[in-house]
Amino acid sequence: MTVPRTITIDGPAASGKSTIGALLAERLGYLYFDTGVMYRAATWAALDHGIDIADEAAVSRLAEELVIRVTPPTVNDGRQYTVYADDVDITWEIRSPEVTRNVSPVSAYGGVRTALTEQQRRIAGQGAVVMVGRDIGTVVLPEADLKIYLDATVETRAMRRHLENVARGNASDYDQVLEDMRRRDQIDSTRAIAPLRPADDAIIIDTTGLGIEEVLAKIGTLVQR
Ligand code: DC
Repeated sequence: MTVPRTITIDGPAASGKSTIGALLAERLGYLYFDTGVMYRAATWAALDHGIDIADEAAVSRLAEELVIRVTPPTVNDGRQYTVYADDVDITWEIRSPEVTRNVSPVSAYGGVRTALTEQQRRIAGQGAVVMVGRDIGTVVLPEADLKIYLDATVETRAMRRHLENVARGNASDYDQVLEDMRRRDQIDSTRAIAPLRPADDAIIIDTTGLGIEEVLAKIGTLVQR
């Protein structure tokens, strides 16, 4: 039996990728890396620098120059990791509604994707990894040993995100979350470069109505196979 060393988890927003990915990596003793963080960091930096999000050349240049670092948590405030952009801690800033609203257009830019994909491959090359995103099994690591695609209905995903917001003490309106999620799904899955879709050899798991442990058990069987 060979245990897969490179595991990819792709899927739409709030399909369970980060929760499942982090737990799976912890249990296997692998590095966990959430690539969405990089697209969010580039978006945060563009907004912070006052760059027009519609200016593809300027946003791409910024993404090429930006130094994004993800480290184990440096503060005990519920974070899974600490994210730095040019040494500024932006762990929570990248989850703001403003970043979330602007991240899909930013991640549709070819220059942004090339810059970040290169860094992701370098990170995955360092050892055993669970890498999470939208295009990891299709574009970033097409040779991965095990590819998983998590999905759930948009209503289920919007409700998960809404409850997460509320639990964090943030104002949240379910209908607004649902509308934003539909819009993000639409942009992410129809963009020209590296759209959200399962790789041909990905195992698709529908997490609607499943608990975290049930999903992990399914993946555990695949890892052992
Ligand atoms: O997983 P997330 O919601 O944090 O991702 C934020 C955005 O980043 C998402 O709308 C699409 C983009 N993304 C991407 O295009 N490719 C990835 N590998 C990861 C995220």
